Amino acid sequence: MEIIAVAREMQRRSDLKRMKGKRIAFVPTMGYLHEGHLNLMREGRSISDDLVVSIFVNPTQFGPNEDLAKYPRDFERDRRLCESVGVDVIFTPSPEEMYPLLFQTYVSVEGVTKNLCGLSRPGHFRGVATVCAKLFNIVKPHAAVFGKKDFQQFVTIRRMAEDLNLDVEIVGMTTTREPDGLAMSSRNTYLKTEERKSALSLYRSLLLAQDLYDKGERRAAVIIDRVAAFIESHPATAIDYVKICDAAAMEDIEFIDGDGVIALAVKVGATRLIDNHVFGETLPAYGS
Ligand code: PAF
Repeated sequence: MEIIAVAREMQRRSDLKRMKGKRIAFVPTMGYLHEGHLNLMREGRSISDDLVVSIFVNPTQFGPNEDLAKYPRDFERDRRLCESVGVDVIFTPSPEEMYPLLFQTYVSVEGVTKNLCGLSRPGHFRGVATVCAKLFNIVKPHAAVFGKKDFQQFVTIRRMAEDLNLDVEIVGMTTTREPDGLAMSSRNTYLKTEERKSALSLYRSLLLAQDLYDKGERRAAVIIDRVAAFIESHPATAIDYVKICDAAAMEDIEFIDGDGVIALAVKVGATRLIDNHVFGETLPAYGS
């Protein structure tokens, strides 16, 4: 497995692979890898001849009061995990390599970033879209694999790729969950024992939402109220948002009559967690 830190070197390597007719898959990450990331990599491995993973904690997607400095990092462990699933290259640039002194160009995806995390984390998706556009230009992948736990991020990147005619297929993968259903996230590591129990309310509230839907409920407000009350009945939870949106436009809807997604952002203790579920899709009953 190669480790590359310089963008130009990564580009040259990808040019050579492409010239030889190799198909490149790419999994962008911020490191501190977990089974969810490894599943994205396994998917990337299965659809390509060459698998590139980036590990880069992207400063432009963190707000001034967010956890950039204390974002968990463990490169040695990440390196071993990447090797274990057959990654060919880790691209791990420094912040200066990605954002040199004169850097001043950003990518702003408009409509789909306005709601949800776009409201509570201003500038977040601009940072995500910018770094992904840069990474796509550096890694030159045929396909890039994203997890749908960050559903709005997945929709944003898919929109960007389409709008800018980027020659990369955006592949979305279902959320990987812990055995009890909690969505895997590098941030789960911050949860204290009692908070970990409360964190499960996110997943369980999605089961509740799907159950209401299965019984015929289509009014978003009714489902949102029930879900919010359920989450709030757990200690140390503070809801940022519970919303039901159109799964393509990411706009709030009153009735679920097409593809509707319920999206949650909840602070559990000091840790902000997100989760979501597209109504009608399978949501396995973990831990029961
Ligand atoms: O999902 C993430 O880990 C990040 O937002 C991404 C896509 C690697 C961009 O920094």
